This record gives sequence, C-alpha cells and structure tokens, in this order.
Amino acid sequence: MMLKRSSHKNGHKKTQPFLSDVKELRRRAQTSMEKGAVTSSYGLDPNVAIDLLQTALATEIVCVLRYTSNASAAMGINSSEVKAEFEEHANDELAHLRKIAERINELGGTPNLNPDGLIARSHTQYASGPDLIDMIKENLIAERIAVESYTEMIRFFSDKDPTTRIMLEGILAQEEEHASDMHDLLVAREGRPMLRK
Ligand SMILES: [Fe+2]
Ligand SMILES: [Fe+2]
Repeated sequence: MMLKRSSHKNGHKKTQPFLSDVKELRRRAQTSMEKGAVTSSYGLDPNVAIDLLQTALATEIVCVLRYTSNASAAMGINSSEVKAEFEEHANDELAHLRKIAERINELGGTPNLNPDGLIARSHTQYASGPDLIDMIKENLIAERIAVESYTEMIRFFSDKDPTTRIMLEGILAQEEEHASDMHDLLVAREGRPMLRK
C-alpha cells in the first residue's frame, strides 16, 4: 500500500494511508462525471439552467418547423429569394437547436425533443399565414420574440455560466440577423417598414 507522510500538530510524524485520498479523489471525480461539465464552481442551480435551455430548445424546434414549412409553401413569381431565405434560416435554427441540446447534455440534463407539449414549452408560435407576406410577418414577430428572450437569458447566465452565455450570444447575433432579413424582405415587398410588433 502506498503511504504518504503528513505533519502532526505536536511535531511528530504520522503515517496516513494514501489510498484513502486516492479513493476520495476518485469518488469526487466520479461524482463530477455524473454531473457532466458542472463543477462545484458552477454559479447556478443546474436544474434552473437546464429548464431555461429546454424552453430555448423548444423554441428552436418550432422555428425549424415553421421555416421549413414556409420554404416549401413559398411559391410563385419572385418568391425564390424568399424561399431561399426561409431555407437558410431553417438551417440556422437547426444549428441553434443542436448547440443548445449539446449544452443541456453537458449540464447533466436530457434535451427534451418530445413533440408532445412542444408549443407549450416554446416561446414562439407555430403560425403560418396563407400568403408570403403573412409568413414573413409571422417570422419577423417570432424573431423579435427570440431576440428578447435570448437577451434576457444572457443577462441571467451573465458571469455565473460564461460558457452558456457565450453560446447564447452567438445565437442572439444570428436571431438579430434573421429579424433584419425578414424586415428587409417585408420592406422590399410592401414598400414600407412594419411598425406593429
Ligand atoms: Fe434560432
Ligand atoms: Fe431565428
């Protein structure tokens, strides 16, 4: 058995079994592994963090479905530009979904991809208007909601979980671009900005 020596209060040396330390370290490592990437320095309740990310995940799923549906529905003269934009956004939302699912895993949760109750968990709706303008408007509203909710989440994670915050900042930047893209399409087609939120 390996031994390590440690100083004792009254000056004389006392031998302590090193093995118990190793066992303790292994036990701690095991506990950490069970918790995934969450360490004792993690500044938040991981369950709260996971719950928040689950709503973001649900929102992204709804966004993928809405843009995919819109892209297949976008038809007619001069709609190829809009269709391409919807397709591009659907791919971006899928990438967001994957990133968030990965982070939920790292925090020790299980990404909830269950279609059951999806709309209740999502920040945005699965609304799809009958024509192209309605679709663009619905997407613009959804993107604005996404921008607001990601901004709030970034504030929440702040320096308590910088890894999640940085991931969300990257997603937020893309949601802002999406909102701007939808707004540009609307202005190009309607000739005026949409003031209604
Ligand atoms: Fe997204
Ligand atoms: Fe988006």
